[in-house]
Amino acid sequence: MNIAEDGPEGYRPAQLEDLRGIEWLEQSLFDDTTYQYTILRQLYAVSGKHWLVAELNGKMIGHALVLIGADKTLLASLAVAEDYQNKGIGRRLLGKALEACVDADVSVIELTVRPDNVRARRVFDQAGFTIVDKDDHYFGPDQARLVMECELAAREVSPRTLERRYSDFLSATSALSTHQGSVTV
Ligand SMILES: CC(C)(COP(=O)(O)OP(=O)(O)OC[C@H]1O[C@@H](n2cnc3c(N)ncnc32)[C@H](O)[C@@H]1OP(=O)(O)O)[C@@H](O)C(=O)NCCC(=O)NCCS
Repeated sequence: MNIAEDGPEGYRPAQLEDLRGIEWLEQSLFDDTTYQYTILRQLYAVSGKHWLVAELNGKMIGHALVLIGADKTLLASLAVAEDYQNKGIGRRLLGKALEACVDADVSVIELTVRPDNVRARRVFDQAGFTIVDKDDHYFGPDQARLVMECELAAREVSPRTLERRYSDFLSATSALSTHQGSVTV
């Protein structure tokens, strides 16, 4: 497969129709901890637009599942189909997922990775993740995972987000002045 010949890959929010392909992708890459369709369907219900897929010529070739909770944001999965690995897609997909987190005002994102997964660790290191913990039994007996975090607060927000924040600010100040104007003393 030659990305240059096939054209540039694209990135977009995951849709319901992607879930069977994501299930297949997960099963082809992870032998111990894979997401079944039922759990993927439930994750889809809560993930919103923060679950991204990479596609090439209409074919889904990777996904990044971000779960934004009240107290914690988790990169629950990052996966690129085997034939397309090691061509920079995982790094770009992760970059897009982190951009979406910044735009959603997430300040820290966490993930876990197997200590021997050198390729994934390289991608995470380069994106700014650092190891904050190690759990030897994270997914059960002898299922060790490194816990990594990435600080996003200092990252640049997109012009679209700046525009949205400015317009939220204007609506808030206009609501405040309307409210003050209605106060009678
Ligand atoms: C991890 C994964 C998402 C990365 O995506 P990718 O598209 O293959 O990664 P990229 O091509 O963007 O980058 C890979 C980097 O790792 C490097 N790399 C590849 N094999 C390596 C190895 N054995 N040791 C060290 N570095 C390695 C590459 O050189 C590249 O770095 P560079 O661009 O600085 O040279 C993908 O390989 C994957 O889906 N793996 C299986 C599932 C998985 O492990 N997911 C992560 C779970 S936490």
